Amino acid sequence: MKILVVGKGGREHALITAMQDSTTDTEIYSFPGSDAISELATIVDVDGLESLIEWMKQNEIELCVAGEESYLVKGEGLANLCEKEGIPCWGPHKQSAQLEASKEFAKKFMQRHDIPTGGATGCANADEARAAINGVYPTVLKFDGLAAGKGVAVCLDEASAEEFLQEVMVERKFGEGRLLVEECLIGPEVSIFAAVVDGEYLIFTPARDYKRALDGDEGPNTGGMGAVASRQLIDSALLTQIEKEIVQPTVNGLIKDGLPYRGFIYFGLMLTTEGPKIIEYNCRFGDPECQAVMPLVAGDLAAFCADGAKGKLTPGLLSFSDGWSVCLVRSSAGYPETSRSGDVISGIENIQDARVYHAGTKKNAAGEWETNGGRVLAVVAGGDSRPDAVKAAYAQLQHVTFDGMQSRTDIGVFNF
Ligand code: AMP
Ligand code: GLY
Repeated sequence: MKILVVGKGGREHALITAMQDSTTDTEIYSFPGSDAISELATIVDVDGLESLIEWMKQNEIELCVAGEESYLVKGEGLANLCEKEGIPCWGPHKQSAQLEASKEFAKKFMQRHDIPTGGATGCANADEARAAINGVYPTVLKFDGLAAGKGVAVCLDEASAEEFLQEVMVERKFGEGRLLVEECLIGPEVSIFAAVVDGEYLIFTPARDYKRALDGDEGPNTGGMGAVASRQLIDSALLTQIEKEIVQPTVNGLIKDGLPYRGFIYFGLMLTTEGPKIIEYNCRFGDPECQAVMPLVAGDLAAFCADGAKGKLTPGLLSFSDGWSVCLVRSSAGYPETSRSGDVISGIENIQDARVYHAGTKKNAAGEWETNGGRVLAVVAGGDSRPDAVKAAYAQLQHVTFDGMQSRTDIGVFNF
C-alpha cells in the first residue's frame, strides 16, 4: 500500500514506524519529512499543498495520513482536496478541524452538545476580556487561532493576565483574532485518543503528557517533555465515564452538525472533582503521546487507517498490549525559551530494547546526528508495570548525550 504521511516530527516518526510494522506491505512517503524519517520513507520534495495533492494523484497514493494539523486547515484543506481527487485521507475536513483551529468554535460545539468543559466567554478585545475576567484569578486566556502551542496562558494574577492581553490583543503577536476567557480547571490531565470514522470510534490507549520543563511539573510549558501510556493509567470506570460523557457525545455531535470526520481526535481532559472535563480538542494524535502509545499497538495500523479513510471502522485489525510505555524526551540547550542547534548527538547506536523517535535532529556533513530544534528526540521503552517501564526507559536514555541536553527525571515515576 502506498502511503503518504504529512509531518516531520517525533509523532510522524512513530506513526511511520507503526505503519511499517503493520502486517500489510507498505511503501511509505513523507512530506515534508526529516533526515530521520528519510531512513524509513521517501521524502516528497514539493512546494505547498496543491503540488502535494498533484504529486499524490500522479503517484497513485492509496492513503494520506495527516500527522500534524496545519495542512488540515490550510487553503481548501488537505482532506477536502484529497476527497476531490479520490485519495483516501486519514484526517478530518477543514470545517471539522475547526475543533482544533478555533477555541471558540470548539467551546460552542461542547456547549451545544452538553459535553463537560470549563465555562468561557468569547471576547473581541482586551477591554472585553478584562470585563469577562472580572477580577477572578486564576483565569485561563486562550487566543482563538493556531498559535504554535503558545496561545494559552494560565494566569494566576492580574499582572500576568495584563501581560498576555498586551502581547496578544494589543500588539497582536499572533495576528488578528478573538480571545476566550475560560474558567480555570484544577486536577490531573489525561490525553484520550479515538479513531473516529463517521459515527463510530475506537478508543486507543490513554496517555499522560508531561508539559512542564522541570521535575515536579515546575517551570515553563513545553511541547511535552515525556509521556506515559497504559490501559491501566486510569481505571475502567473512569474510562467508561469519559466514553459516555465525552467521546460518544462528541462523535454524535459531529454527525448532528454535519461535520465529516475520519481521523484521530485527541481529547485533552482535566480530571476535576466534578468529573472529567475537556480542556481542548486536537484533530490529530498527540506529540509526544503518540511516541508512547504506538509501541503498544499491534496488528495492521496501515489497513486500519486506510479502511477508516474509506468510511469503515475495523477495530479487529488492531490489538493493544496491556503493559506500560514510557517516552522520555531529550531537549536542546535553552529550550523552551530558545533552542540551540548543531550539537552532536552521541550514543543512539547503543540503545537496546527501546525505540528512538527523532523530532529535531539532522545529519551533518560528517554523517553524525546533530540537534536541530527544541525537542530533539525521544527514547521509548515498555514494561509490564509502570516502575519497570520507567526503569527501562531511563536506563536507555542515559546512552544518548549531547551538549546542553535537558530531560526530566520524574516521567512516570508517580501515578497522578
Ligand atoms: P493547550 O495549548 O490548549 O494545550 O493548553 C495548554 C495547557 O494549558 C493545558 O495542557 C493545560 O495545562 C492548561 N489549560 C488549558 N485550559 C485550561 C483550563 N481551562 N484550566 C486549567 N488549565 C488549562
Ligand atoms: N501533547 C500535546 C499535543 O500534542 O498538543
